[in-house]
Amino acid sequence: LVAALPRKHQAGLELRLYQGFWLPDHWVAGTVVFQRRFAPRPDDVILASYPKCGTTWLKALAFATMTRDAYPAPAQHPLLRLNPHDCVPFLDEIFADGQEAKLERLPSPRLMNTHMPHTLLPESVIAGCKVAYVCRDPKDMVVSLWHFLRRRQPELPFAELFEHVCDGAVAVGPIWDHVLSYWRASLARPDRVLFLRYEDLLLDTGKHVRRLAEFMGRPFSPADEGAVEAVVELCSFEKMKGLEVNKKGSAGAYHAMPRDSFFRKGVAGDWVNHMTPEMATRLDEVVRDKFRGTGLAAP
Ligand code: A3P
Repeated sequence: LVAALPRKHQAGLELRLYQGFWLPDHWVAGTVVFQRRFAPRPDDVILASYPKCGTTWLKALAFATMTRDAYPAPAQHPLLRLNPHDCVPFLDEIFADGQEAKLERLPSPRLMNTHMPHTLLPESVIAGCKVAYVCRDPKDMVVSLWHFLRRRQPELPFAELFEHVCDGAVAVGPIWDHVLSYWRASLARPDRVLFLRYEDLLLDTGKHVRRLAEFMGRPFSPADEGAVEAVVELCSFEKMKGLEVNKKGSAGAYHAMPRDSFFRKGVAGDWVNHMTPEMATRLDEVVRDKFRGTGLAAP
């Protein structure tokens, strides 16, 4: 199957067009297994995102929220010792690696993450799991992705990556179809799919942590503002970036990346420092065109 799929080599990655999305070549076979064999549990929560749109933050927030009663003393929390990627298993790599037996051994409720678009999730997940999705302004995604990829490819020109993003041909792209897949699913099944934005999280993290907690079936009581604050504080960019565990070592299996590469600037609007106004307008127009009539506001 994999060999018959259209192929591109871009920004150092081998990509295959699978069911409308450009997947990293080494994920395709695992994705098919994920689609066919993943056995969800009723209390599973899956965190979904396009790469570089807030995955690490969402993992930390969801993990801290789910485990808050297990670690009432903030100084004991595992997020002080472990990178968020080591707390929430990454389904796409687990299946790519043939390691799905690991998932069986996880205690319930399981928290896992994926970069797959909603339309590529297993039917069993679509029917039976809660999925929280975070999206971000694609312009800031490109900037974040470029800095991330440059850790491996220092010579990668920004303009080249920008072209690939506009063509939709970067890992799990096109980004607009990825975002729309979750947007539509969240409209159809708001009890199953929570749609979050990185920029909203920055503006009022506590408000969206409450939404996330409620969605995951672990609501904070109205009087629990202190517990919400503790989660927000533990997962804040400054706190996470400053932890020793996030300054050294690497996260991920196939393409292990330095842990510090997941904490760069943590702001909205950094695209102004990297793109010409023409580039910004061009990407905005592509996205606006794709979002037209869907009810989803373009950035
Ligand atoms: P920047 O490169 O713009 O700084 P992902 O986790 O999906 O790979 O996304 C990485 C982006 O999220 C990076 O953006 C990173 O700095 C930012 N990020 C990571 N942890 C964060 C946190 N706790 N709060 C806010 N942003 C965070």
